[in-house]
Amino acid sequence: MRTINRLHAIVFLGICSLVYVGWVLPTLRVQSRFQKVLSGSRSRLVVFGDSYSDTGVYKVAVPKTNPQANASHPLWTEALCAELLCDSLDNYARSSGSLDFKAHPDALVDTDVVANVTNQNPSNAKFKADFGMQVQRWINSEQQRLNRTAVQERTVFTVFFGISDVWQFVGLEDKEAHEGVRQSIRTLFAQLDVIAQFMRKPIQVVLPHIPDITFLPAFSQQPEGPFPTYQRSAVFLVEKWNTELERAAREFVGGSIHLLSMNKWLLEMLREQQMYTIGIADENGDGKRAPTFTETTNPCLPLPVTGAQYPFDMDDADSNRTEPCTDPSQYLFWDGMHLSSKAHRLLALEAADLVSHNDTFNLNALRKHEQELAEKKDKDKKPGEAEMDSTNSES
Ligand SMILES: *[C@@H]1O[C@H](CO)[C@@H](O)[C@H](O)[C@H]1NC(C)=O
Ligand SMILES: *[C@@H]1O[C@H](CO)[C@@H](O)[C@H](O)[C@H]1NC(C)=O
Ligand SMILES: *[C@@H]1O[C@H](CO)[C@@H](O)[C@H](O)[C@H]1NC(C)=O
Ligand SMILES: *[C@@H]1O[C@H](CO)[C@@H](O)[C@H](O)[C@H]1NC(C)=O
Ligand SMILES: *[C@@H]1O[C@H](CO)[C@@H](O)[C@H](O)[C@H]1NC(C)=O
Repeated sequence: MRTINRLHAIVFLGICSLVYVGWVLPTLRVQSRFQKVLSGSRSRLVVFGDSYSDTGVYKVAVPKTNPQANASHPLWTEALCAELLCDSLDNYARSSGSLDFKAHPDALVDTDVVANVTNQNPSNAKFKADFGMQVQRWINSEQQRLNRTAVQERTVFTVFFGISDVWQFVGLEDKEAHEGVRQSIRTLFAQLDVIAQFMRKPIQVVLPHIPDITFLPAFSQQPEGPFPTYQRSAVFLVEKWNTELERAAREFVGGSIHLLSMNKWLLEMLREQQMYTIGIADENGDGKRAPTFTETTNPCLPLPVTGAQYPFDMDDADSNRTEPCTDPSQYLFWDGMHLSSKAHRLLALEAADLVSHNDTFNLNALRKHEQELAEKKDKDKKPGEAEMDSTNSES
């Protein structure tokens, strides 16, 4: 009898500690890490972008069928909201639900620009709400909301576009493609200005670089075009996109840009895995410890079988799978176009660090802008006032 009671007690204690380790501890960790960041007032994340950000939860312009039905959650936007302990996530991002970004692009920065450069009809139904349209929808719902409530709240915006845009430009003449990228970035920042003006105060924007799309497993499956030429074109365009994005971001004066170096992050994940596989270690010891992801080429969901899968290693047992992988946490990619949820979560941690440290990429521009405003104010003062000010300060 006594042994049974003691056994019960031990089992009970065991369950208690499991609950503590599995449930209470993670909560404590999250709360202690970012408690101060968004405390005090209500906070929300407003999300603009494509399928990388689209949570599949819609308030306005709800799609007939959910294009994100097969997405792997959490996405980086959901994980970022959780990290920042935000009260709500307003999703304006839109996706095509397709894995073929050439035929069915996700939301673009500017549909008109892409359609113009690629000779397509901008009113084609395959084009989703672009950044401009997403911002209009957001402003419309804000206006309705503002009349009802005037809550003090902190807003963080996420703006992630570009993968579909660049995908559309791949294979064009260099000059046209570059023009397309330049115009798209111009639109992107014009829309950020629209948001800043509507908010009437400095905004906070998480803005990721785009990853090198040639690493996405589906890239090599494009039906048309000679692969090496396409690859070269894509690498150049991604570089161009990120350079133009940085250049424009550096000069933005509507608020803080938290620039998320997604491309660098992705390369690090790939490098780590390759060094481990080859068995070399660098001075940091990278390559010795197990990589974050052991599988960085094949996605968890098998790619549709097509004729050529060059340059994949066809001897790889993994590329024969027809079922989803058994351990998604080892996979960098979820499907041919998207990162796995573990990758999304890691990316969100990087973003949360930027936001919590107020890591501002355009700090110089903001300071200069402030100074200019101050000087302008001085100049606008009546000369008499200015003199009085100076005599006051001297006495
Ligand atoms: C989700 O996956 C199923 C099975 O692969 C597929 O038939 C369906 O079209 C997919 N839905 C979307 C929205 O991609
Ligand atoms: C479309 O392209 C042409 C020539 O490249 C240019 O003149 C025109 O302004 C463009 N239109 C739009 C809406 O961007
Ligand atoms: C909200 O108020 C503004 C002006 O205060 C007005 O123009 C707008 O129509 C209002 N919106 C709604 C939905 O009532
Ligand atoms: C994968 O497919 C190739 C070619 O069809 C075949 O030779 C190989 O044995 C398969 N590997 C596995 C693990 O099934
Ligand atoms: C972040 O830093 C910028 C630039 O110094 C500043 O203008 C802004 O108020 C800061 N934002 C927060 C939330 O502290």
